[in-house]
Amino acid sequence: MAQEDLFKKLVAHCKEYGYVFQSSEIYDGLAAVYDYGQYGVELKNNIKKYWWDSLVRLHENVVGLDSAIFMHPTIWKASGHVDAFNDPLIDNKDSKKRYRADVLIEDQMAKYEAKIKKEVEKAKKRFGDSFDEAQFVSTNPRVLANQEKLDKLHGRFVKALNDSDLVELRQIIVDEEIVCPISGSKNWTDVRQFNLMFSTEMGSTSESANKIYLRPETAQGIFVNYLNVQKSGRMKIPFGIAQIGKAFRNEIVARQFIFRMREFEQMEMQFFVPPGSELEWFETWKETRMKWHRALGFGDEKYRFHDHDKLAHYANAATDIEFEFPFGFKEVEGIHSRTDFDLESHQEYSGKKLQYFDPETNKNYVPFVVETSIGVDRMFLQIISAAYSEETITKEDGSTDSRVVLKLPPALAPVKLAVFPLTKKDGLPEKARTIMHELKFEFNCQYEEKDSIGKRYRRQDAIGTPFCITIDHQTLEDDTVTIRHRDSMKQDRIHWTKLQEIIQEKVSMRKLFETIAE
Ligand code: GAP
Repeated sequence: MAQEDLFKKLVAHCKEYGYVFQSSEIYDGLAAVYDYGQYGVELKNNIKKYWWDSLVRLHENVVGLDSAIFMHPTIWKASGHVDAFNDPLIDNKDSKKRYRADVLIEDQMAKYEAKIKKEVEKAKKRFGDSFDEAQFVSTNPRVLANQEKLDKLHGRFVKALNDSDLVELRQIIVDEEIVCPISGSKNWTDVRQFNLMFSTEMGSTSESANKIYLRPETAQGIFVNYLNVQKSGRMKIPFGIAQIGKAFRNEIVARQFIFRMREFEQMEMQFFVPPGSELEWFETWKETRMKWHRALGFGDEKYRFHDHDKLAHYANAATDIEFEFPFGFKEVEGIHSRTDFDLESHQEYSGKKLQYFDPETNKNYVPFVVETSIGVDRMFLQIISAAYSEETITKEDGSTDSRVVLKLPPALAPVKLAVFPLTKKDGLPEKARTIMHELKFEFNCQYEEKDSIGKRYRRQDAIGTPFCITIDHQTLEDDTVTIRHRDSMKQDRIHWTKLQEIIQEKVSMRKLFETIAE
């Protein structure tokens, strides 16, 4: 199936099965804002728990915080967001559509990459086991030509970004003959900077009203509380502060479902370290965070690091963890060595000292910071994209059937088990309810008695429920039930009192945490 079709199906699936809805749908929606349905909110909560516990519970020197969304407006001056939190935008004069100039160029680079990948895939098929990929990409004329174009474009793009050269960005779009996907024309305006922060007013009268911003990142709430946490928690450097919360950006182009939203949620951790040790800690957190992603078992090849071409104004090193979405490798998480930029700047603007006294050296210093920052919604999309699967099943009589199954990691699945009485009579529903009553104290369970067992299995597969438990007439005699495993569809007959132990072992986050700690 073409990746574009797969993505469309995935979006439709999220709506049909109560994962994600367009915000304000009955009023025709609000662009780039989404609501999470009954299963979506459970998956989101589980993602947040996986992140929070892996940092705050498993690291003695990482603690949590929940700072307010509204903050003093000077914070955004100090952080650089008022002056520099911009994206370069460009309009197509024919379609009147607005684009991010950098994204148009990145998409063009992705096209060259895709052409190279296609050549490699074709050759792989042609040559089979004897295929030498390294040799092929270094000698094939079509690959070399595309690689040359890609390298040249990349060089120009990085230089233009680093020089903040908006004229050159436009020229690249013109030279590469990039067309508007809507009008198909190359009739572009100049490139302009656009600040992404939403603002509103605080105060009841126009004289007293103060312009304030909806935070575009949660990180600043951590920086301005750094000393409160350090002193009240008697924290010793190195230590981290983790926070989960909403962030808002007036994205120029909001595309790809929940990938780029105007209201979204971030999970950010700022790790405070002695000056000079930040690049070592940067490497440590890169590795730890990559392990956190890979522990979910979607395949190591689905992830890669992508070092930033242009460092943000606060960073001396930065990389993204990218995941291969149906629309290509894209950023899920950013890891940044933010130097002492933020704390120094808040010291300057607030006039308050934000230093750390090191009892070992008897010296005061402003700590350096390594940040890990991941979007909950993007992580959600990563998981749903990797888990969505369409399968053809061959039945015992040789006939075929199909199913859509969300192969979610059991620890993250919204519903852990569904309980089905085989029929609605003979005391089976009562027995099923008794068993479910015991299990619901441990797991998120669902009871279903409508439709055939086959249909009920399909519904739970589509939601991603890892276990289905069927109560039949034999259960009434010997207290055994069948437990059906979502991915293998294998069924076992076991005593129902064994259910808790078996399910617990599979749905607990412990295994994931052990993998990360290895
Ligand atoms: N404090 C650093 C920071 O905010 P960022 O790279 O701009 O860095 C971090 O954002 C993460 O937040 C991204 O990797 C992405 O997962 C998520 N994110 C950023 N903008 C987003 C948007 N418009 N919609 C959804 N997620 C977004």
